[in-house]
Parts: sequence; structure tokens; C-alpha cells
Amino acid sequence: MSLPSHPFDFRSLFVGLDVKTPRLDGSQQPYINLDNAASTPPFKAVQEAVDGFLSYYSSVHRGTGFKSQLSTHAYEEARQITLQFLGANAHQHTCIFVKNTTEAINKLARRFPFTAERDVLLTSVMEHHSNDLPWRPVAHTVHIDLTPDGRLDEASFDAELARYGRRVALVAISGASNVTGILNPVHRLAEKTHAAEAQIVVDCAQLAPHRRIDMLPLDNPAHLDFVAISAHKMYAPFGSGALVGRRDVFEHGDPDMRGGGTVEIVTLDDVVWAEPPDREEAGSPNVVGAVALAVAIHQLDSIGMHNVAHHEANLTAYALKRLSRVPGLRLFGDRDPLSAGERLGVIPFMLEGISHFKVSAILGYEFGIGVRSGCFCAHPYILHLLGLSADESRRVRSNILAGDRSDMPGMVRASFGLYNSTGDVDRLVEALEYISRGDYSGTYHQVRSTGEYVPEDWSPQFERYFSIGVDRRGAA
Ligand SMILES: Cc1ncc(COP(=O)(O)O)c(C=O)c1O
Repeated sequence: MSLPSHPFDFRSLFVGLDVKTPRLDGSQQPYINLDNAASTPPFKAVQEAVDGFLSYYSSVHRGTGFKSQLSTHAYEEARQITLQFLGANAHQHTCIFVKNTTEAINKLARRFPFTAERDVLLTSVMEHHSNDLPWRPVAHTVHIDLTPDGRLDEASFDAELARYGRRVALVAISGASNVTGILNPVHRLAEKTHAAEAQIVVDCAQLAPHRRIDMLPLDNPAHLDFVAISAHKMYAPFGSGALVGRRDVFEHGDPDMRGGGTVEIVTLDDVVWAEPPDREEAGSPNVVGAVALAVAIHQLDSIGMHNVAHHEANLTAYALKRLSRVPGLRLFGDRDPLSAGERLGVIPFMLEGISHFKVSAILGYEFGIGVRSGCFCAHPYILHLLGLSADESRRVRSNILAGDRSDMPGMVRASFGLYNSTGDVDRLVEALEYISRGDYSGTYHQVRSTGEYVPEDWSPQFERYFSIGVDRRGAA
């Protein structure tokens, strides 16, 4: 496993960072990716391991040939590595491979034993839709309030936990926000949750690439009962993720998806389900994805999560300082560079007088900087941070239903991965200074249905950069 020659020179560990992409003025520049909260580029170690593994890849579980045995071995080893990474242990926990955090949480929502007496799920207003919508049909879902600056209001958490008492079955909370990078005190919340005899699932989609996670043994009151992660946010974009959680929950009940691999024995009128994790992984699994995730974990472990956190905290402090001096720029969430070590490098902002859609378009087309704008799959959180009134929210809703997103509220978000540098921040800040002065060259029009801005007279010509290789000439 490679390590950078300088402690924080992580760029050399990644695929594709020096690849040039086109700009509106016809020039080609290396792309600056500041959209890591969405997806990250692959580690070279992952690319190389996947490449090496593909020569041996074959069917897993019960295949008898050497390649099948090797693939099964690699798949099960990936499971152990994932358990270990999260501080889980194979006696108390199971690691179920899924395609991403969304699938992990949906699975848990379908499999968690809510009952008529224990029917309440506590979540918060800051959640990504993937840790909110799956709960709504299966439990009485209560959203914990936030403070005005977007933190979980712990007094409100305590109050709701006391109000619903023994009705609370599960708490579902994000380890870190994908909008503001705010870290939730998950172990403290876990203690309170367990004191109420409920369980806790932590959405670690954002946390896992940036901080050490320790689920702790089940007899520790601060333990986490379930954790969900996505490999594509951890430098291993091969379509895998994991739900790691209490084995006892998955030892009971029918699987949410039925099919090959989930059973011990089937007769025409009876089924005996396999033990977890097999019970929960219907159909042929994504072996390559699991291997990729495990290699990424190994690479992160080799670097050391404390080094990752240290580098990203410095970068975030630097970015907050510089961004706060851009004319007309408004930062959301925690703006204090001194507390950069207590949050992730996910920074939401707006430029006065110019649509978030337009800012992100100009950054991409004219400066080669990839960010994201909009609501980041967290509509309630964005409305809260923007302080939108009920009337304004209703107006937005009816515009969207009428197919018009042109004045959809939102923000621009820059989010760091461990390979980003102060040079990347400088480029972002310079670009924003130009944009805030109106100093950009393109003529843009807005697509009403999506809100996006596109430059006139420009085509990206993707096939010059990558093509699947299918000749579509003459296709209807
Ligand atoms: C906090 C959080 N939870 C869940 C998700 C969903 O992750 P995925 O799209 O990998 O399922 C995301 C994705 O951005 C996220 O940031």
C-alpha cells in the first residue's frame, strides 16, 4: 500500500487528478474537484487492486474452481476489513454489503422490528433525504429541531426522547452533515438512546472518509447499533456500500429481498433462511465493489484517519478565512476557522445577487472547478438554514410542481477530499472574486425546468475525452 512521500501530499495516491478538462475559452486545465461530499475520485491502490483482482474474478459462494474460491475468500476478507474499520466485531455485528448508504438505510427500515408499542423513530431536520424518507412509511417519524445555525438542538432531542419514552424504537442520525459538515455527538446521543432502551443508526456516508468511527461493543452504553457507509464517497467508486449492525436484529424475520443465496433449504412449501449476512444479500453480490471498498479502507488506515482529519481541518480553516473575505459572499453553518477541527470540510455559501445555479455553472465552465449547487438532497435543512417562511416554502413548492425551478432556493457547496490543497482553495477564491465583480465571459441561459445555467454556443464534446466505444453513426 503506497503512502505519500510528504505527510500531507496525498495527491499522488489518486487517479486522474492531473487530467485536463475543457473551459469555455477553449483552454484545457486540470480539473479541481470540490464536490467530494457527493463522490470522490478513486485511490490508485483501488484501481490497481481491482485491475489485479479482475483476472481472478469469478462466481462467489459454492463455486468449486480455484477462481471461485479465491473470489469468495476476497469477498469475505472484505467483510472482515469493513467490520474492523468501523470498530465492529463479528460476534455481535454483521456486515451486509449493499450498493450505497441509501440502500443500507432502506434495508434497515424494512428489517427493523418496529411494533405497535415501539413505533417511533427520531431523526432530525438536518438529514439527507436518504436518512429521512425511508423511515416515514415504517415508523411514526419525529424530526428533532435544529438551532438557527443548523446544529442539532440537543435539548429538543432530550425533550422528544422523554415525550415519546418507551415508544421510541430507533434514533436515525447523521454522523456528519452533507450540507454544513457539522458533526453530531453520536456517542452521547447513543448513551441517551440506550438509556431509553432504544437503538441508534448513524448515517456515516459523510463521516466515514474523514473520521475514525468506532461502533464499540454492545455492552458499552455509547455504542452505535447500526452504521451505513458508501464506498463511492471513500475513494472506491465501484458501486458498493455497507450496512454494519447488530447481528441479532438480522437473525430474526424474513429478509426484505428474497432469492438465491438467502436460504439454508427450500421445499415447495417451506423456507429456512440462512444466517446473516447471507440472509440479507439476495442474488449475486458485487464482489468487485466489496474488494474496492476494502482496499480503500486499507489505504485510509495506512494514511491514518488522524492524519486525514488533521489535513482537512487545516484546509477548512484556511478556506473559511479566505472565503469570508470575498465581497458579497455569505457562509452558512459554522463560519469560525478556529473550530475547523470540529466539523468536516463541507462549506455552503451564496454570492449576493447571483443565483447559486449560476455561480456553480460559471465555476465549472470558466474556471474548471467542480462544485454543487441546490439543496443537496436535504430540502428541510436548506429551508431551515435560509430561514424561509412557510409562505415562501409553499410558493417554491408550487413553482416546482408547475415545472419551474428557476428561483429554487439553494446554496453553492464546496467539499474537500483529502487530496485537496490550499492551492485549490486559492483557485476557488480567485474565481469567486471574479464572479462577484461580474467578471466572467460567458453568456448563459437558464433552463427553467432544472434551474441550471448553460452557456450559449458551447458543446462539451465528451467523446474527445471518453467514449464507451459504440459507433452510433446511423442510429435512429
Ligand atoms: C449524509 C448522507 N447520507 C446519505 C447519502 C446517500 O448516499 P448514497 O447516495 O451513496 O446512497 C448521502 C449522499 O450524499 C449523504 O451525504
